[in-house]
Amino acid sequence: MAIKLNDKFLNGFVSDHEIHAMDDAVIGAHSKIWNKTGLGNDYLGWVDLPVNYDKEEFLRIKEAAEKIRTSCDILIVIGIGGSYLGARAAIEFCKSPYYNNLKKDTPDIYFAGCNISAQATKELLEICEGKDVCLNVISKSGTTTEPAIAFRIFREMLIKKYGPDCIKDRVYITTDRQKGTLKSFADEMGCQTFVVPDDCGGRYSVLTAVGLLPIAVAGISIDDMMEGAAAAREAFAPCDLENNDCLKYAAYRNILRNKGKKTEILVDYEPCMTMMNEWWKQLFGESEGKDNKGLFPASVVFTTDLHSLGQYIQEGERLIFETILSIKDTGAVVEVPHDEANVDGLNFLTGKSLEFVNSMAYKGAVIAHTDGGVPAMILELDSRTAYDFGYMVYFFEMACGISGYMLGVNPFNQPGVEAYKKNMFALLGKPGYEEQKAELEARINA
Ligand code: PA5
Repeated sequence: MAIKLNDKFLNGFVSDHEIHAMDDAVIGAHSKIWNKTGLGNDYLGWVDLPVNYDKEEFLRIKEAAEKIRTSCDILIVIGIGGSYLGARAAIEFCKSPYYNNLKKDTPDIYFAGCNISAQATKELLEICEGKDVCLNVISKSGTTTEPAIAFRIFREMLIKKYGPDCIKDRVYITTDRQKGTLKSFADEMGCQTFVVPDDCGGRYSVLTAVGLLPIAVAGISIDDMMEGAAAAREAFAPCDLENNDCLKYAAYRNILRNKGKKTEILVDYEPCMTMMNEWWKQLFGESEGKDNKGLFPASVVFTTDLHSLGQYIQEGERLIFETILSIKDTGAVVEVPHDEANVDGLNFLTGKSLEFVNSMAYKGAVIAHTDGGVPAMILELDSRTAYDFGYMVYFFEMACGISGYMLGVNPFNQPGVEAYKKNMFALLGKPGYEEQKAELEARINA
């Protein structure tokens, strides 16, 4: 069992009858997912993905990853949102946040097109000097501005480096199966393509080629990852609130929200979780934040953030609850050394592992925070393997779908993301947006 929910720190915040009262809502949400009867039911491909994926493409992903590993020093993954976060989260979780600096026989992996920063782009162009580079461009729509701009820039870099014929060998494209500008570009240039399935929204796509190609390039076993996801699918399929931790997590989130806890903080104690936190925030933020509803998903990595946000959590406005993701085996053992002079007075820790010290910080913090009025749930994760990653991803995806239906929203659309894009296009002078441009400029200059 890769993930287990421990609810002992909800004592005093949520009572048994409240969880039982969620039974009908959970049964309804569960049925909407598994019988595909809810809003957004065209986007439920992720539910069966771990057992029903394109095996031929899966093999091609492994072959392409091997080719990329042997033909470049750097892979630049170009994408944003759901076309970016999952792969980065997996690489940092399974390998390291320092992945690029580790001794390894796989390429460095950088991410571009996830911002419009001139500085970040210029620095990455400099990093690529004198290195062999491949690109994996990922965009379901093929029209998203940030990755499209980055693709132009890094494509130009490749052509300058290797000449125009290099594109077919150095650019791997993950996009819609049939349509869109990226697909047409790939067909015209002869690039290898991978598919973002029609029935998987961006934030539910990490276990498709979107995530799997960069993850495989990093030398992470995508077989193990799919196996973990498949095990989670089996574990969390039963409609049994008492024994299904995924359903319980969704139910507790909704109970706490109904009690005025409007912000959920995902708490972890390992820096390898930083990007996983970002993936989780997108998953829940885009799935639930609509119709003027939804928990605000926030995250911290302790103990680092105990020295920044710890004060607020302890004594600030009481609108938060914590979901602590605790990794049982982090895969590393480092001990506190002895210091004869004992200048810092820490010799009582001599020989203790950092894991032990970290776990005491965790226990101390959770008790302090619950004493301070912050309910906490603990998700205990076994370790940091590809299997665990797949398991955890599926757990959160399923919990998010269930929780979103319990909230009464469509967890699989993201209409709000368009608002800034329309304004940006208008302000940038995109043809067809003339009226909006004049109106926005008048507001800006008023
Ligand atoms: O979850 C989503 O659907 C979004 O975050 C998208 O992944 C993101 O906007 C990028 O879209 P696209 O893959 O079409 O470039």
